[in-house]
Amino acid sequence: MALTARFPELAGRLVLVTGARQGIGAAIAEAFAQQGARVVRADLANEGTLGADPGQLTAHLDVSDETSVSELFEEISSREGTVDVVVNAAGISTMNFVAESNLADWERTNAVNARGSYLIARAAAQQMLSSGTRGRIVLIASQAAKNGYRAMGAYVASKHAVLGLTKTLAIELAPSGITVNAICPGIIETAMKHRERVDGARLRGLTPEDIEREDASQVPLGRTGQPEDVAGVALFLASGLGSYLTGQGINVTGGMTMH
Ligand SMILES: NC(=O)c1ccc[n+]([C@@H]2O[C@H](COP(=O)([O-])OP(=O)(O)OC[C@H]3O[C@@H](n4cnc5c(N)ncnc54)[C@H](O)[C@@H]3O)[C@@H](O)[C@H]2O)c1
Repeated sequence: MALTARFPELAGRLVLVTGARQGIGAAIAEAFAQQGARVVRADLANEGTLGADPGQLTAHLDVSDETSVSELFEEISSREGTVDVVVNAAGISTMNFVAESNLADWERTNAVNARGSYLIARAAAQQMLSSGTRGRIVLIASQAAKNGYRAMGAYVASKHAVLGLTKTLAIELAPSGITVNAICPGIIETAMKHRERVDGARLRGLTPEDIEREDASQVPLGRTGQPEDVAGVALFLASGLGSYLTGQGINVTGGMTMH
């Protein structure tokens, strides 16, 4: 799916996208690159530091690790300058019924999704504040930030935390001209979603195909989403058109969530 909209104000902007190796993060990184932005693509699955591969703005990053996050922001600052836009798309999901779940999955899910969002947003805020940059921070939450879902207690809790952080940081940074918003995707066709169908099917005694049919039937627009559906909203939020939005959790769900 090609994004045809043009946002000339994004050309030359320095954009950090986490979780950029695949799925939603990769589509967002590609969408900004198509607008002529300078995109740092960071991911746990990447190897090396920002400068390791000349000409390539890719880097290893663990969003749940305070040192990893601060080192990347310092490297970006010294090599490329202050980030104008930060999109945190790194995330994981784990599935189990709460009564049958274990603490390790809870801790791991919240470490990446909640703590990771906090560490990335905090580092972005610090860099933007100290340089006087009227930047944009976008956190990828989920419609699981607004609803409960069977067998997804740790994930749902972690995404509610992301939305709470978004609202608070938006208020704190508004006087400095920095906006903070969350995108709340619905069912998006990525490796994460495909794995969730396998895990969900096992837990519920169904097949992944049963879950896929169930997924599509729940979306008023009649189809599940693609990563590019989310990327377009990230571009909008970072563009001039998004200048009067802050503290929002914007649903990209084909109508599945309406609040
Ligand atoms: N796919 C969906 O239906 C859906 C719906 C709502 C929200 N989301 C959210 O969108 C984001 C992206 O999901 P996706 O579906 O593209 O998943 P994905 O698994 O396809 O991609 C996630 C990427 O994040 C990276 N990552 C994981 N842990 C990391 C860490 N600690 N540090 C840095 N990078 C890390 C992975 O290596 C991977 O490249 C996640 O936050 C997810 O919760 C997805």
